[in-house]
Amino acid sequence: MKNIINNEAKLKIVDLLNPILADEFVFYTKVRNYHWNVTGPNFFGLHATFEKIYDELAEDIDAIAERIRALDSKAPGTLKEFLKLTSLTEEVGVYPRQSEMVQNIINDFETISNEINSAAHKIQNEFNDEVTAGFLYGMIEKYQKTLWMLKSSLVKN
Ligand SMILES: [Fe+2]
Repeated sequence: MKNIINNEAKLKIVDLLNPILADEFVFYTKVRNYHWNVTGPNFFGLHATFEKIYDELAEDIDAIAERIRALDSKAPGTLKEFLKLTSLTEEVGVYPRQSEMVQNIINDFETISNEINSAAHKIQNEFNDEVTAGFLYGMIEKYQKTLWMLKSSLVKN
């Protein structure tokens, strides 16, 4: 198979993937923090749900890093780099109520989905890398399903 993506384009694609990787890693840590520190009447449900979410994020983190490697760059793999690259914020020593935790996770999924969506558009239209774009769109599809479930859990019946 002929490789149609030139080296310059590969570097630009990686520049778009690096901040996504960093955001996913910070988000992963945030959800783990919530898994550990959630309290309240729905403790058991949310403790388990948060674990499921961070496990899925761990798989995405791995897939993005390996996509970066497949594009011939080194993947950032230190917390220092992630904190420099991320646009998400962390709150040290803050343990929100359980519905606020769910809302924060919803907000971060939406932020990351928008970021992934605009990166995927560029990667597809400016750099003609449909494989990376398709991979990113697939992630958004998964997040939309998770968002539906998280939002449903906040509806007061
Ligand atoms: Fe655990």
